[in-house]
Amino acid sequence: MKVLIVPTKEIGAKIVALRIEGLIRINFKVVLGLATGSSPEPLYDELVARGNQIDWQDVKTFNLDEYVGLQPNHDQSYRSFMDKHLFDLIKIPNSQTTIPNGMAANIELSCTKYEDAITDAGGIDLQILGIGNNAHIAFNEPGSAFDSRTRQVELDEATRQANKRFFGGDIEKVPTHAISMGMATIMEAREIYLLGWGFGKSGALARAIEGPVSPEVPASVLQLHPNATFVIDTMAAQQLKHPDRYTTVAQF
Ligand code: GLP
Repeated sequence: MKVLIVPTKEIGAKIVALRIEGLIRINFKVVLGLATGSSPEPLYDELVARGNQIDWQDVKTFNLDEYVGLQPNHDQSYRSFMDKHLFDLIKIPNSQTTIPNGMAANIELSCTKYEDAITDAGGIDLQILGIGNNAHIAFNEPGSAFDSRTRQVELDEATRQANKRFFGGDIEKVPTHAISMGMATIMEAREIYLLGWGFGKSGALARAIEGPVSPEVPASVLQLHPNATFVIDTMAAQQLKHPDRYTTVAQF
């Protein structure tokens, strides 16, 4: 695990976008694992700004998660989020973007098929993650088993409270369940970038980076990954006890 402390989220986003661009230049058939939420937004802005510099024709993407019970065209579905922030703004064929199906009649079967689709694509080359206030990754809430795979999960009250801002502030409108890639699914990605911005994430990040590896702190599992990098801004790094141990980017 590596930690990169950057002065701003825009600079962090630029560094990760350059890595994605470089990977696509080396191998057109890159498989990306993508995240939703405010954390990856600056990255998607940066990828969109790069426009034709990136050839998206053969890239495949798999998203981390989706709410159960929201139609794909619901304005808060993760499909809508991805279309709005990335897919509709770059030249990637729609058929190559995959998001868990929160409306599947048989959710268990659709989760198995999701795992199979990732395997058939050759596995995830580069995975983007955000982090929840309780250190969840995707919708793997505290207590998620390290060997978990794509499945239906129940959302923590804290997560629903945090996400109600997207549902007009009404917790009743926030779905109670989601489909999420599992901890094991995420850990199989060859390269991982977790993006964390702002003081609000500093507690979760300190526990994930410097605390014991434990299912109670889902993001701490990344300490065990050979090629995972936490890209965090100065405010998000505020509660680290040993900032001197990490790489600090002064300017870029
Ligand atoms: C949601 C998503 C996570 C995301 C987290 C943090 O619960 N399922 O993938 O990392 O929220 O969101 P944000 O980046 O908006 O703080």
